[in-house]
Amino acid sequence: MPAWLDNAVFYEIYPQSFLDANGDGIGDLEGIIQKLDYITELGCNALWINPCFDSPFKDAGYDVRDYRKVAPRYGANDDLKRLFAEARKKGVKVLLDLVPGHTAEDHPWFIESAKAHPVRYKNRYIWTDHCFTRAEGLGFIGGEAERASVYITNFFKCQPALNYGFLKPSEPWQLPMDHRDCLETREAMKEAMRFWLDAGCDGFRVDMAASLVKGDDEEKSGTSALWQDIRSMLDKDYPEAAIVSEWSNPSQAIKAGFHGDFLLAFFKGSGYQSLLRDYRLDEYNRAEGEDNSFFRKDGNGDIRRFLKDYLFHYENTKDSGFISLVTGNHDLVRLRHTLSPKEMALAYGMIFTMPGVPFLYYGDEIGMRYLNLPTKEGGYYRTGSRTPMQWKAGANLGFSGAPPDKLYLPVDPAADAPTVEAQEKDGSSLLNTVKALLKLRRAEPDLRAKPNLEILCAEKGKLPFIYKRGSLVIAVNPRGETVTAPIQERGTLLYSLGKCGIDNQVCRMEGQSFGVWRI
Ligand code: NOJ
Repeated sequence: MPAWLDNAVFYEIYPQSFLDANGDGIGDLEGIIQKLDYITELGCNALWINPCFDSPFKDAGYDVRDYRKVAPRYGANDDLKRLFAEARKKGVKVLLDLVPGHTAEDHPWFIESAKAHPVRYKNRYIWTDHCFTRAEGLGFIGGEAERASVYITNFFKCQPALNYGFLKPSEPWQLPMDHRDCLETREAMKEAMRFWLDAGCDGFRVDMAASLVKGDDEEKSGTSALWQDIRSMLDKDYPEAAIVSEWSNPSQAIKAGFHGDFLLAFFKGSGYQSLLRDYRLDEYNRAEGEDNSFFRKDGNGDIRRFLKDYLFHYENTKDSGFISLVTGNHDLVRLRHTLSPKEMALAYGMIFTMPGVPFLYYGDEIGMRYLNLPTKEGGYYRTGSRTPMQWKAGANLGFSGAPPDKLYLPVDPAADAPTVEAQEKDGSSLLNTVKALLKLRRAEPDLRAKPNLEILCAEKGKLPFIYKRGSLVIAVNPRGETVTAPIQERGTLLYSLGKCGIDNQVCRMEGQSFGVWRI
């Protein structure tokens, strides 16, 4: 396990929308380099950058055309190397986004593979044996290629699945995992990883990591064996490199070799969503139905929904990897859609004081809004969470010098659109709250990723939620009323939002408060 992960706090950047340094309307690598000091001052010491590789951008870059080439709209390979070098000088690690499950349709491998009689890459993708043979249980496309077969997709139509084999092949066209061509696909992906690790990156966030091996791999033994093999390569040749999976099942992912996994799960009612987004979106991207997210002031949230899920994975993984909680990401609706800045601050209090390695999505530190926009680059409802970063008042809120109609996505048009500049001047802003929380996390060894969590109070229908990490007690009351709970520990208050105290063996939390005590 790379030691640096224990103290890591990640900042996720959607490169399209962070800072446009060359005035063409879209963010770029130079823009990220220019903002490294902003990121470190915020309290983050690691980056995850969404795919920045050559792509037709039908899924915002998750459709890679060349794993070894930076998309020209963001700069050149040398700019990415410069970013690694500049980040390293400032103590910032950089994870790239690896998309191993599929490529773009116009990746040269697929173009060759789709020919009537491919010479190379015949089995780089999964093809059935006849133009009318369908693939039961898998997404597939027929009638598009010269090749008289049907191919398997991994996500959108534009993302043909790479062939890592089938755990239990049940048709002649389904190759076993140890087929030479499937092993070659795996080696090609390892080579892409080595290419960027040699160039100076610190590891990868891995897209749809659980999706690689097909054919009855429900328990993921095949996909896990594949990742264990990749992890051995890292342990041997790049022991400081980290891999964090989009698997949403830390118990499986960490056994499979990942250093960390996101606790996500997109459906209403999952442990993570029950904290923050306990609703569905309707066709106009409005939150629909009763919202009992734990962090709503007026909600009827129950922390045990989260804990049931979290503690299961925590117990399974605490000695071998970490769970990542996120404020948001490029696929999730921004919290500001349904939560007030105060509700968000309390949520950040918890997210940044839990074990594991937290991720802050760009713009969540100032409470950027979710904008209801037409789809862009396969974003659909996600587009509203991908708008340009709001730096300061004035043209394009400081994101770009391009004419507004040339921007990748429009900036928040509201007169009170939050900006970094305004929030820096306001001591009680969300931005300054995030800075204070991350400062506390960095200063307190007990708040690192390590597994030292003890739940002190998490009862049905009762607040506050209280937990302990080593010598620190942390309590949160998201609701509007004052609540109290008995507590054995005595403590000195280190940090608080709202009014709260521990006295005479009672923890008293006024409405919407959060506190951290040293005991
Ligand atoms: C998960 C990524 O986060 C998402 O943005 C993408 O559309 C799919 N995987 C497909 O790669």
